[in-house]
Amino acid sequence: MKLLATTPEQTHELGRRLATVLRPGDLIVLTGPLGAGKTALTQGIGDGLKVAGDVTSPTFVIARVHRPDSERGGRFPLVHADAYRLDAVLEVDQLDLDTELADSVTVVEWGAGMVEQLAADRLEITIAADPATEVRELELNPVGGDWRQRITQAFSAAQ
Ligand SMILES: Nc1ncnc2c1ncn2[C@@H]1O[C@H](COP(=O)(O)OP(=O)(O)O)[C@@H](O)[C@H]1O
Ligand SMILES: [Mg+2]
Repeated sequence: MKLLATTPEQTHELGRRLATVLRPGDLIVLTGPLGAGKTALTQGIGDGLKVAGDVTSPTFVIARVHRPDSERGGRFPLVHADAYRLDAVLEVDQLDLDTELADSVTVVEWGAGMVEQLAADRLEITIAADPATEVRELELNPVGGDWRQRITQAFSAAQ
């Protein structure tokens, strides 16, 4: 499935829509060049999941846990990881998180080839950017589980 986002706000909105079908244990792997909008999409996901704290690029840590803001109806944590500087596949204990991935939604930037072993089922999203414009093309590749049905549900309504 391919989706277009012509502004940063649209990329956020796609993240919010995706969040409507997310549940604990999910793994989302984001690919795309620097500035593609991987963090922007994750911000939309965090918004939709109603987690506390600003989602920013976790460049100087491997991963950050955003707790659900229960007052706003948030139900589970978002683990936001950046595998950019990893030179070997990511092991869960390397993350040193005070949450279980099974209890969280995990989004990994630059995770392709690094994190697939964390979950057999996953949603891969590749973002292509035209550097001259704000147009971004998101290609969603559902791997296993019921990801295909879920992304259809999230994005079938007219955009
Ligand atoms: N359609 C768009 N979607 C997302 N970001 C966009 C878009 N158009 C322009 N941008 C800009 O591109 C940058 C994306 O940054 P970021 O999300 O940190 O990228 P990444 O995490 O992939 O390196 C931001 O400065 C954002 O404002
Ligand atoms: Mg980023």
